[in-house]
Amino acid sequence: MKFLDAARAAAPWMVDLRRQLHRRPELGNQEFETATAVEAALASMGLKPRRLLETAVVCDIEGALPGPTVALRADLDALPLQEETGLPYASEIPGQMHACGHDFHVAGLLGAAKLLAARRDVLPGTVRLLFQPDEEGDGGARRLMEAGCLEGVACVFGAHVRPELPAGQVGLKYGPAYAASNPFVIRIKGRAAHGAEPQLGADALLAGAQIVTALQSIVARRVAPADSAVLTVGTFHAGTACNILAGEAVLEGMLRTFGEEGRRTLVDAVTDLATSIARGMGCEAEVRFTWGYPGIVNHDGPTALVERAAQALLGPEAVIRHTAPLMTTEDFGYFLQAVPGCFYHVGVGCDAPLHSPRFTPDETALPVLAALHAQVAWTALNEGNAG
Ligand code: NI
Repeated sequence: MKFLDAARAAAPWMVDLRRQLHRRPELGNQEFETATAVEAALASMGLKPRRLLETAVVCDIEGALPGPTVALRADLDALPLQEETGLPYASEIPGQMHACGHDFHVAGLLGAAKLLAARRDVLPGTVRLLFQPDEEGDGGARRLMEAGCLEGVACVFGAHVRPELPAGQVGLKYGPAYAASNPFVIRIKGRAAHGAEPQLGADALLAGAQIVTALQSIVARRVAPADSAVLTVGTFHAGTACNILAGEAVLEGMLRTFGEEGRRTLVDAVTDLATSIARGMGCEAEVRFTWGYPGIVNHDGPTALVERAAQALLGPEAVIRHTAPLMTTEDFGYFLQAVPGCFYHVGVGCDAPLHSPRFTPDETALPVLAALHAQVAWTALNEGNAG
């Protein structure tokens, strides 16, 4: 399949689509215009998109030949950020911007849909397109999955643009690729007393200080040196006056981990350490974790498949293997907890990082993203499965 040539021919259409989306960025769960634009583009290819959730669009490209179903995903939402690019197609909505490249993802997946829909007569199986809301907020992927978007799906693929990679280069990470997010609050209850009579109270502030220090031993001493995790205590509130022993202290922090096992181990370690130290100092600690995005652990089979597809499409030099996982997170990980798959990167060579008001991805990478999605789906269907 000559997906790259076809994608390059469709590039002006994709660029135009991406700029339309860029002008009208919508925040999580409010992607109504975006979802309507996606439906219109899919309908123009003779496809039949359906809504799942209020702003999610799901669409099957059914091949003429029998075979499995594989899914490709893009995210629809923008960020609450004032754009500063000065581009002619900059955001028309004050305080909202596609600064994470999700407009790029949508246009790229629509480009892939165009390439695959044009080859339905030789397609051995079904490609399911997932346009999901609210990646940046409350896990649109999880809700889309609970609504049944992965029923019958053998494997799932998705991509994110990366500004630090040259335009058109593909980045891959086997195994742990994005961290799980675990924000936490530790509430320490002591007993207030006069600052000059500490023996009559229990100092929650002092216990909190010990806990902050001790928590830093978790990554240093509970995680193997070659593995990764990060723990940050970001706020510490305690006390009301200089001569009163603090009766309460509240710490807020975040823990980023890799894989479900690592996540449980470290969440338990934080809880044990904080409660034990508080108890040892005559206080009580209550530790509350929010179970955030699970992170991404790519499956070996599908990741090797993406590597083969990318090398076939772009040549071996265009594909790099990342050596370290990212500490940021991504709700695509929910899909990978349910079915095998891989989340890969496409370079858009740009000085400004993701989530910057000056993020300006290189649009020459758009046909690469579209062709890579199409090549990955085509390869997965032709190999019968990607597990
Ligand atoms: Ni993003």
